[in-house]
Amino acid sequence: MNETIAPAVEVPIKDYRAPLRFWHWGNAALITLQLITILFQKVIVNSKSAVPEFQQALSKDSVAITAQQGRAFAHIISERIWDWHKYFGWAIVAFFVLRVFLQLIGPSELRFSARLMEIMRRYRLAPPANKSETGKILFAKTTYALFYLFLTIMVVTGLILIYEDVSFLRPIHHLAEETHNVTMYLIIGFIVLHVVGVVWAEIKEDNGLISRMIGGNKVPKQA
Ligand code: HEM
Repeated sequence: MNETIAPAVEVPIKDYRAPLRFWHWGNAALITLQLITILFQKVIVNSKSAVPEFQQALSKDSVAITAQQGRAFAHIISERIWDWHKYFGWAIVAFFVLRVFLQLIGPSELRFSARLMEIMRRYRLAPPANKSETGKILFAKTTYALFYLFLTIMVVTGLILIYEDVSFLRPIHHLAEETHNVTMYLIIGFIVLHVVGVVWAEIKEDNGLISRMIGGNKVPKQA
């Protein structure tokens, strides 16, 4: 082995310990649930656009309601979906705190920054023949860094939206809402890239990657 490359203590970059896997799948499930609430809110139920349908359905029983009454009804449905969005939102906040906790006091295998530094070091020191392979891992880790940034934005803006009645947050409410909305699309973009990248790696060069992420490392333990 080239001694200039080998670190004193090697930080594994493909070691998926149980807390990391728990966090990964729990967080993935919660983000999926959040996206489903938005799908229901904005597309499947879209209660606001259903107001004329409520009016028409009730008119069959000779009940006439005004558009305002219809909107009040739509609001109740919409609020129920937002309530679920907030419950899942709080669960994401809890997972986020757990991730920060692991990052701050966890062992190096669980600290994202340690893994990122390690792959940057390996990329810097890799011989030209291995640059492309190491570069792909570095690219993947960089997208994870972006994901953590998006998640932080989602948690902070989500909390600002939850505490909309707090007076000092009112001036930034609209900005938080817009940022929350736009960041959702960035998260969707990340998910697409991530899933395609993982399936590609599993097929082409890293057989067993997905099962390691589900069941953990068998032997050998380190990347
Ligand atoms: C990471 C996944 C998440 C996605 C994809 C997501 C997506 C969205 C979207 C698209 C909206 C509508 C914004 C608008 O009206 O323009 C929204 C609203 C909202 N989100 Fe999230 N969000 C996520 C996480 C969170 C988290 C972590 C929290 C809480 C900490 C949260 C709390 C809220 C609240 C309170 C609203 C406003 C609900 C209302 O109008 O009553 N969200 N979210």
